[in-house]
Amino acid sequence: MTRPDSPLAEAGGRYIPALGYRWLTPLYDPVVRWTTRERAVKAALIEQVRLQPGERALDLACGSATLTIAAKQKTPAADIVGVDGDEGILGQARRKAGQAGVGLSFDRALSHELPYPDGAFDVVMSSLFFHHLTRTAKLATLREVHRVLKPGGRLHIADWGGASNPLMRAAFFLVQLLDGFETTADNVAGRMPALIAEAGFVDVSETWRLSTPLGTVSLYAART
Ligand SMILES: C[S@@+](CC[C@H](N)C(=O)[O-])C[C@H]1O[C@@H](n2cnc3c(N)ncnc32)[C@H](O)[C@@H]1O
Repeated sequence: MTRPDSPLAEAGGRYIPALGYRWLTPLYDPVVRWTTRERAVKAALIEQVRLQPGERALDLACGSATLTIAAKQKTPAADIVGVDGDEGILGQARRKAGQAGVGLSFDRALSHELPYPDGAFDVVMSSLFFHHLTRTAKLATLREVHRVLKPGGRLHIADWGGASNPLMRAAFFLVQLLDGFETTADNVAGRMPALIAEAGFVDVSETWRLSTPLGTVSLYAART
């Protein structure tokens, strides 16, 4: 049950799992692989993050940890934590990390109340997540991310962005049916950079766009 003062309460208290409905979670990896050009998007995000050995990074709403594992494989000497609100998908994440033989830790928490002290991370990265949140929850989450980043810390996001043409706008309708219209409206209208700036980040930019079978994915960068 969501508290009435929680940022999730605005969406009717609904926590939106990986594919919109909990019973679809076991299908998450194959569906995302075939519908979002996942490999290209996550490779571009990891390239953009430029994680350095010794840095501490958080994968926000890590889901089944495809990005978390790839980031650790690219920079083994970085300390990477994955956080997600859904214990079900964290089970998949822990299993995949074990199979990949990478040392990662995972925590269960909601994105607007992260269990980390101020300035705990050099980098926060996140993929395909912010469209699960209402505007109020997006802002509460971005402020919480700002809190757990060090001064000068980097934020890197890949998520559904402003539709780059009418075809991409039409394709995005399926995501909206699964994940909700209210939570996805700011994404497809291209308002993510303005929300990131409103939460206190500087040097906010949209760095890349990619057309996928389900709409336009954008990459964003910012720092505290
Ligand atoms: C579409 S999945 C993306 C997973 C992963 N980042 C990826 O790129 O494959 C969205 C994830 O956000 C998580 N999530 C949704 N609302 C959340 C919240 N308020 N706090 C933390 N995690 C949340 C879901 O459990 C799900 O794993």
